Formats: sequence, C-alpha cells, structure tokens
Amino acid sequence: MVQNVAGMLAELEPEDFHLLSGIEQGMRFSEWVAREKIPEFSRLTPENVAYRLDRCLARDLVQRKTIQYEGYQLKFEGYDALALHTFAERESVEGFGAPLGVGKESDVYEVQSYKPLALKYHREGFTNFREVMKERDYTSDREHVSWLYTARKAAEREYGALEALYPDVSVPRPIDHNRHAIVMEKIDGVELSRTRLEDEQVVPVLDLILSEMATAYDEGFVHADMSEYNVFVSSEGITIFDWPQATPTDHENAAEFLERDVRNVARYFHRKYPRLVGDVDAAALAADIADGAFETVREYVLED
Ligand SMILES: Nc1ncnc2c1ncn2[C@@H]1O[C@H](COP(=O)(O)OP(=O)(O)OP(=O)(O)O)[C@@H](O)[C@H]1O
Ligand SMILES: [Mg+2]
Repeated sequence: MVQNVAGMLAELEPEDFHLLSGIEQGMRFSEWVAREKIPEFSRLTPENVAYRLDRCLARDLVQRKTIQYEGYQLKFEGYDALALHTFAERESVEGFGAPLGVGKESDVYEVQSYKPLALKYHREGFTNFREVMKERDYTSDREHVSWLYTARKAAEREYGALEALYPDVSVPRPIDHNRHAIVMEKIDGVELSRTRLEDEQVVPVLDLILSEMATAYDEGFVHADMSEYNVFVSSEGITIFDWPQATPTDHENAAEFLERDVRNVARYFHRKYPRLVGDVDAAALAADIADGAFETVREYVLED
C-alpha cells in the first residue's frame, strides 16, 4: 500500500522537491539513478544532496540500493509528493481529504479546492512491474520500462478521454493533470454494483448507460473497462468513470472492446434483474452503437 503523503507536504522544503525531481529525471535513463549523477540532475551540491537524500529516505519518498553501485529511485510516495506539490502550486488542490477508493491500480482521495474534488493517483505498473522484471530477467538498464512511465501514460490517457468526452458524455469533469495524477470533479453517488434499483428504473438506467456509451463512441472512444464498478448512480442520473483504458474507435480492437463492454453491462443487469432484463444480443447491440442506431435495449433481448 502506498502511504498518503498529503500530511508531509508542509514539512518538505523546496530543495527536497529539487532532489525528488532530479531523481525523477535520472529515472528516464535508468531504473536506479547513480548517486554521483544526482547533483547534476537536481542542481544541488553533493553536500546538499546527501542531506536531502537522508530526509527523503526517512520519509520513505525514495529508496536506495547498494548492489553493483549506489543508486536511488523514487517510490510512489515521492512521485505522489511531486504531483501533489504541483497541484498545490497551481491551486487546483488546496486541502486534502479522506480516501474515496483505494485499489490495486489507483488511489483516489477527496481533495478540496473551490469545491470538493477527487484526486486519482494512477498505480499501473506498480504490481506488474516486478512480475515483468522477473519474467524477462531484465539486466540492461537501456530496456527498462519504468512504472513511472506506465502510470503517467495511464493518467494521460484517462485525462485525454475525460477532456474529449466532457460534457457531452456523463463523465467526471476534468480539472487538472500532472504526472500520474488527475484531479476531477467529485461524483456523489453510489457505484452501480452497490445499488438495488426499483423495478421501473432498471431498463431506463441500463438504456441510459448504453446511450452514454453510444455518445462516447460518436466522440471517438470506447471505454474498454466497463463494469458495474465503473458507473455511479445518483438521483441526477449516471456517471461513467475510470477511463485509463479508453480506446479510440479507429483502433483495430475497438469493435471487440465495445462488444465486451456491452456484454459486461448487459450481463450484469440480466443476472441481477432476471425478471426485468432478458439475455441480450450483445453483438447486435454493439454493432448498432457503432452505427449510431441504438435506441433501447428492449430491441436486443433474446426470447427464451
Ligand atoms: N470522480 C470521483 N468521485 C468520487 N469517487 C471516485 C471518483 N473517481 C473514483 N472514485 C472512487 O474511487 C474508486 C476507484 O476509482 P477508479 O474506478 O477510477 O479506479 P480503479 O478501480 O482503481 O481502476 P480499475 O477499475 O482499473 O481497477 C471508485 O470505485 C470510486 O469509489
Ligand atoms: Mg474502477
């Protein structure tokens, strides 16, 4: 689990951030940044580097290895601190709140600005990275694919999708983006997986979700990770979130992903509300979404 760095931000000094961003720079070239290169990357004197390294090690923002050579890398906490510091400087985040969702692939916190917002730190590459390293037996630094890069790309992709889709599709409003983190509107609602809908709401809610997916498709995106865990339901309607896998509709697998998304959603409704939603022809429904011909799920329910 990655520790929440918000509480330590106030005690970090500007030169601590120089050190962290120096190590970040160095990690573009190698997984572990050699000690003697850090002064150059961070523009600090070697004495200051020694002092700052101790401070950042004590706070678990960086880690050290001593085999082969003395090297340092950011921990996710250090990367979080850099992103949060940037948001604070830009005033997109002015206060830090409680966790909204803590998972394998992300940590989401409530943050405060002119109104409550949600901050999502991406963690992609964190769990997979060591597995990948083991499997491929990486030895050369030149080939390394850093978790920093993987997590940053995921955040960029998610933010790009939110920017493209908001407000035509019901997604959280994007506010700011830095490194592996995004700030967005905080959605009040309950995840679809945790709701039990009234009978008369079931088909309308399913239709609403599929219509939002159809609009997203029109705007050039397939969500590609649709499930009951990535939809919020409230009295205002539904919101589809969690877009890092968003795939352009001209991607070679877009049709396959769209059909899988449709199947996931339709199957969830069918299993939870079997009296109200029959088995759905997901292939036909997905094809009609792609052709702009979708109206209601009722047309795709298979007789049994
Ligand atoms: N904008 C938001 N407003 C309020 N809560 C949010 C918001 N975004 C995410 N959350 C909460 O955080 C949780 C995790 O967010 P999200 O689904 O985006 O990432 P994830 O589940 O880690 O990604 P994946 O589904 O790939 O594992 C959500 O289930 C939700 O409870
Ligand atoms: Mg999710």
